[in-house]
Amino acid sequence: MSARSIDGKAFAATVRSRVAEQVAALAAHGQPGLAVVLVGADPASEVYVRSKGKMTIEVGMKSVEHRLPADVSEADLLGLLAELNRDETIHGILVQLPLPAHLDENQVINAIDPAKDVDGFHISNVGLLGTGQKSMVPCTPLGCLMMLRDYHGSLSGLDAVVIGRSNIVGKPMAQLLLKDSCTVTIAHSRTKNIEAVVKRADIVVVAVGRPEMVKGDWIKPGTTVIDVGINRIDAPGKGEGKARLVGDCHFDSCAEVAGAITPVPGGVGPMTIACLLANTLNAFCDQKG
Ligand code: GUN
Repeated sequence: MSARSIDGKAFAATVRSRVAEQVAALAAHGQPGLAVVLVGADPASEVYVRSKGKMTIEVGMKSVEHRLPADVSEADLLGLLAELNRDETIHGILVQLPLPAHLDENQVINAIDPAKDVDGFHISNVGLLGTGQKSMVPCTPLGCLMMLRDYHGSLSGLDAVVIGRSNIVGKPMAQLLLKDSCTVTIAHSRTKNIEAVVKRADIVVVAVGRPEMVKGDWIKPGTTVIDVGINRIDAPGKGEGKARLVGDCHFDSCAEVAGAITPVPGGVGPMTIACLLANTLNAFCDQKG
């Protein structure tokens, strides 16, 4: 391995401790509150939600969890969001995605007060980000941007390729890199000759959910690789039912060629929750005026 491993775990711990300091310093103005809504019992979502709750409390914020059955009606979910929008002790609201198929994800997200939309998924925040205005910024791309800025300093003029076009990661990541004056390409499952597209990049951000898709020979020597993927795959030899976590990049071959790379686990993942807490603190400050 010749690449530097970007330590998202340590970076996230620093961000969380800064948030905790500010929460303590602002105590006279009240306590920031974050509400997380989980519909159904998707095991991966359960893990994220537990981890969010624990870290919210650790930084001194109020944490509220609403667990709704998988067959909850849209009217009941929208009713809960209306209540949380009105609740003055709640400054951030997150509805864990994906939602069961009978619920309209756009309707649900757009029912959150944009000022409390700490995920940055509400159409108003998406529009503000796309036009370069102050907005709530989605947590995973924000975490990636912080690591890229920390490693590179200025990103201006760099060629960035984002692989994946989701609303949660790919599209907002591209907007953020564009705002930092990168030349941005979004590649996806229909991109022709994707290896050649990726080979041009100084920065590659991969968010496709396909285990170890990007190989070392796709990468230009010295490139910075940010791997958003967290995939659970069977681990041969580790016994029945044992799995290991891998990213969307084949770590060993990419690390031979890249200048820097985020590991999985311990790269982007911890930054997502740290940025959620930072967004909640910002939302609290904005709502307090
Ligand atoms: N599911 C996977 N990532 C996310 C995220 O960043 N926010 C929400 N709300 N759901 C997710």
